[in-house]
Amino acid sequence: MNRLKTRLGKLHFESPVTVASGTFGTEYFDFFDQRILGAYVSKTITYEPKAGNPPPRLYETEAGLINSIGLQNPGIDVFIKSSLPELREKLYIPLVVSFSGSSITEFCAMLEMLEISEGIDGYEVNVSCPNVENEGIAFGTDPDTVFELTQKLSAITNKELIIKLSPNVSDIATIAIAAEAGGASSLALINTLFGMAIDIETGKSRIKKGVGGYSGTGIKPVALALTYKAARAVKIPILAMGGIYTWQDALEFFYAGASMIALGTANFINPIAAAEAHHGLDVYLAQRDLRLKDIVGKVNG
Ligand SMILES: Cc1cc2nc3c(=O)[nH]c(=O)nc-3n(C[C@H](O)[C@H](O)[C@H](O)COP(=O)(O)O)c2cc1C
Repeated sequence: MNRLKTRLGKLHFESPVTVASGTFGTEYFDFFDQRILGAYVSKTITYEPKAGNPPPRLYETEAGLINSIGLQNPGIDVFIKSSLPELREKLYIPLVVSFSGSSITEFCAMLEMLEISEGIDGYEVNVSCPNVENEGIAFGTDPDTVFELTQKLSAITNKELIIKLSPNVSDIATIAIAAEAGGASSLALINTLFGMAIDIETGKSRIKKGVGGYSGTGIKPVALALTYKAARAVKIPILAMGGIYTWQDALEFFYAGASMIALGTANFINPIAAAEAHHGLDVYLAQRDLRLKDIVGKVNG
């Protein structure tokens, strides 16, 4: 019996463990069998190619990582022509493609292009980028924009539509409800928090751009609380991430209400972290004769 089976909206997975967008290349499959992952989530693509931000753009803090990679990617044309066929060739698990646009029109145009491409099982919509139509406010921070965007995207596709939320909001429940009302089939959270570190010898930020995105161990309590709040606000399933390094971390997120979890920064520290998390979860459930769905959202209190 597979105790770890799970589901995100329209997709069924053999494993509730996946990897966070931008943190995991297929070369990691040299270290473990990819089937321990329920799915593979690709790095966010944008309409135009992006060179990314100037270095230094990574800094390891005492409790996690600050990055300002800046969505470096080859753009959707190259993704569809070369990265997608390469990915499909290497993968025998479902592929979730992450994408991000700078306007609602651009998001829709990208989804239309992806829809006519073969080999994609679902989409993760990264709404943490600035919205050019809305004076640069990130899409993910405004419930009306999230609703409108999700509604337009869900009219284009019947595939799994995961809206990846930003944690940099005052009320995650409002945004989660807006995505659900717009037709999202599941939610992913959290993306990185704002973070900064300063070199006191030079007085300079450790990151060229000043402020970056903070991920890893330090954000786990925040991610857990936001997962808990979002899970209570909506009926659609949640793919949770933020500081998950071990099976014990993962279990906390399932108890808080996640149906699936992703490892991100952990992959940089331990390339087999996802395999270890999968194994630990399996043992924990077997010892208690439970299935994953028996514990999802079952936090006491
Ligand atoms: C180096 C790096 C690159 C990332 N690139 C992306 C990206 O392209 N798209 C995205 O949605 N999230 C991106 N993220 C955010 C992660 O997918 C994840 O949401 C976040 O790191 C929290 O999880 P973690 O603490 O397990 O890393 C990136 C994170 C890191 C550290």
